[in-house]
Amino acid sequence: MLLINCSNREKNCYKILHSIKSKDDKLISLAHKKMDFCLGCQSCQKELPKYCVLNDYITNNVYNEILKEDNIVLASPMYISNINGILKNLIDRFNTFYNHQLLKGKKFYLIMTGFATKKENEKEIEGIVEYFNGITEYMYFDFEFLDYFVDSDSQDIIEENNNKIELIKRRLNNEK
Ligand SMILES: Cc1cc2nc3c(=O)[nH]c(=O)nc-3n(C[C@H](O)[C@H](O)[C@H](O)COP(=O)(O)O)c2cc1C
Repeated sequence: MLLINCSNREKNCYKILHSIKSKDDKLISLAHKKMDFCLGCQSCQKELPKYCVLNDYITNNVYNEILKEDNIVLASPMYISNINGILKNLIDRFNTFYNHQLLKGKKFYLIMTGFATKKENEKEIEGIVEYFNGITEYMYFDFEFLDYFVDSDSQDIIEENNNKIELIKRRLNNEK
């Protein structure tokens, strides 16, 4: 399984992914990585040896890691009521997989964290789930929202959420 931290910090999202990672899983972090925006050039719709004309961490590392795994867990902080820019940018960069249906059979899971409670972010989470469910049809992957965690700068987010972490681990173990 592949776990991708989409926060630009290695804090809440990273800690949660680290706590659910088992020894055969790979955790990569997009924090402070060189990551360019899609140029919109559509070169990726042709046969490109490196999937994308951009020369960054996504082209050189992330694409290959995604292609190797069937189950991919994404973690993003809630930013202004939505997924953060890094995750959206990553999804835009999935354009390279689209034409050749390279994500077919893969399953993406999403974990989110935010300051507000899960209840307070209920509508936002609903919108995000709707967005992902909407793109599964033409991106050819499955999607499941795993859980939302409340930010915990003062206390340890893992200690506070042991039960949720255990449930996620059990859920993901069923897929292996
Ligand atoms: C620019 C920015 C926007 C944010 N917007 C929201 C928001 O709309 N709703 C929310 O609940 N939390 C919001 N937060 C809080 C983060 O989602 C929260 O601190 C999260 O746990 C950070 O995850 P990380 O430690 O993995 O970076 C925002 C934080 C920042 C920096």
